[in-house]
Amino acid sequence: MIELTPRIAKKPLGFRFFSAVLVCSVHTSCSGNSKPADEAGSPTSGGTITGGGGSGVTATGVTATGMTATGVTGSTDGASGGAGSGVTGTSDGSSVTATHGNASTTEGTNGAGLAVTGTASSTSGGGGSGGTAGDGYQPPVVSWPSETCVAQANTLLGQMSLEQKASQMVMGQFKDVTSGDVSGEVVGTVFASGSAIPGSGSAADWASLIDGYISASQSTPNGLPIFFGIDAVHGNSKATGTVIFPHNIGLGSAHNPELVERIGQITALEMMATGANWTFGPVFSVAHDDRWGRTYESYSEDPAQVALMGAAAVVGLQGRGGLGTGAPGVVACGKHFAGDGQATFGTSRKMPAGTDPGGLVDRADVQIDEASMRSYGIGPYIPAIEAGLGSIMVADTSWNGVNMTGHTELLTTILKGELGFAGFVSTDWDAVMPNQNGPGVVAAVNAGVDMLMAATDWPSQRAEIVAAAGTTIGQERIDDAVRRILTVKCQAGLFGRARDTALLAQVGSEAHRAVGRQAVRESLVLLKHEGAVLPLSKGSSVWVSGSGADALERQTGGWTISWQNGGDMTQGTSILAGIAAVASVVPNLTDADAAIVILSEPPYAEWYGDVSSINTLPAEDFARLSEARASGKPVVAIIVSGRPVLIADQLPNADAWVAAWLPGTEGGGIAEVLFGDYNFTGTLSHSWPETEDQVTVNKDDAGYAPLFPYGHGLTY
Ligand code: BGC
Repeated sequence: MIELTPRIAKKPLGFRFFSAVLVCSVHTSCSGNSKPADEAGSPTSGGTITGGGGSGVTATGVTATGMTATGVTGSTDGASGGAGSGVTGTSDGSSVTATHGNASTTEGTNGAGLAVTGTASSTSGGGGSGGTAGDGYQPPVVSWPSETCVAQANTLLGQMSLEQKASQMVMGQFKDVTSGDVSGEVVGTVFASGSAIPGSGSAADWASLIDGYISASQSTPNGLPIFFGIDAVHGNSKATGTVIFPHNIGLGSAHNPELVERIGQITALEMMATGANWTFGPVFSVAHDDRWGRTYESYSEDPAQVALMGAAAVVGLQGRGGLGTGAPGVVACGKHFAGDGQATFGTSRKMPAGTDPGGLVDRADVQIDEASMRSYGIGPYIPAIEAGLGSIMVADTSWNGVNMTGHTELLTTILKGELGFAGFVSTDWDAVMPNQNGPGVVAAVNAGVDMLMAATDWPSQRAEIVAAAGTTIGQERIDDAVRRILTVKCQAGLFGRARDTALLAQVGSEAHRAVGRQAVRESLVLLKHEGAVLPLSKGSSVWVSGSGADALERQTGGWTISWQNGGDMTQGTSILAGIAAVASVVPNLTDADAAIVILSEPPYAEWYGDVSSINTLPAEDFARLSEARASGKPVVAIIVSGRPVLIADQLPNADAWVAAWLPGTEGGGIAEVLFGDYNFTGTLSHSWPETEDQVTVNKDDAGYAPLFPYGHGLTY
């Protein structure tokens, strides 16, 4: 049954969200105390917002110097419901006016629920462990680009032919780009498709592949560096031997932006060890429909949490002072702009279901009004843009029927204009192509796209740019696109830079894996706990069963080495191995002191993971659970999944239920919590439905009554 109900009525968060994020992240006072702009780059402790239940936010006389915006002014009074005055600023030399939610609100809850600045919402459900982690984390505000990089880009532009400029505006997948293409300056960016790996996929194999492109680029007259882009979306998840961190849904449950920043730093290092300098992440989606195959890429259904975690990831990946300040840093790419996760089920252009394999929510139409788009689909990017986000990928979807890759209002008016985004805009995979519902090269570039992700088709797309220049695409637009790209390359320190060969030795190090285990521990959510069965006793005998027990592929999920799956190709600690390190795993239930059943979804990515039912755990896993229950032993159920799944009927079959999400390679973190080294701290970042009907039920919805609400999480 296909549901086509538009979500126009979605409650707008417009002013509340924008005021809290903008006012308190641009080094301004939330209570009238100005902070100097030169504090950019260092975390502030926050504390200037008075959060907590219903106390609201009061901010008057705010002035600041931001990344690109100078003279931000604002006046808000959330507690009294006063109208916000909006934000105005100048961007990158050109004047822009940003009016972020010039709206009024009668809500007095600005602090509560916005972990960006105030007191995060606490748990609901008995014995909840609270959700205040993240308080006080302030992403830095970065001023860029530097005069040096702008001058360098302009000098280069003056020397480049039209063909050389067009080369900067296309990227091709490495299978279709030779080093001769790079030394001949016919392409400026190389990327890895989700499925392709060189050799065995080891970090060393990637390094030798990318070294070839880097030296080819350095042989050109101007030495224009290449970007090498990969989907490093949970660690350097393209190379074997790296640390694969929990997918974002787990990190959202951990509510720890400092940890997300640290993970970004490690990811950047494990990328740069291979020479990859551009990641297609982080994801800023606010997933509202659990049937979406990309739900696990979404930190939260709450846009404020996505804003916080996304900004923290960008800061970690790029550096606290923006591009070029990491040790080492890469260029981040926020995706997918705009409205990612807000699409309407049943409008996918990958439909009908059943066709290879058919999408339902992915690549679908986002049917929300402008206020909702600003709150859920644009707002989450703002702190990351302020922190110096270098690039953004356009969503390969549509907004109320209008394709986003050709959406001038979204890309030029709002993103580059209102928000003052100084980086460059890339398309998603083949998204301009008319045979993929795309708007075509000319319309995309004119709408504000600066770089085309064209897997194999890049030569013809480059030729189209050249042919259109000066006629259907203005020369100024081309220069603007190339200037943005070259500026980012300069700002990221890529000119003249060879791969740092010393970094390879750090890939997958024990220090990095320890951070992975911490992330696993903190991402776990204890959904149910009866009979005080936890913690289990170290050294006791346990029966371990279920499809997720000994399956790296399942615990790492999609986007791991390959596109749909691939975790089995890398090294890590299975959940079973982690348990076996602290307990005696016995083959017979009768010999066990307790049973642990690890139920899991198979891995998937994008529309391949779209489902019409969230009853996605295997029947065999439920059979193992029943078997364990029938034994009379204490039973612990662990769910390895990329989304909340249907378990309401099964709850009586275990004493404790744990949502482990997609924990990645460091499965040992699970045993550390089950066996008492650490207690649970995670809380749900996505509401957990009781029935199939509740797949689109999200916090703040009218009549909200899921099985486990947003923020739920128990301790033992
Ligand atoms: C996905 C993007 C990804 C790109 C490159 C696309 O299909 O939508 O998220 O970055 O492929 O792998």
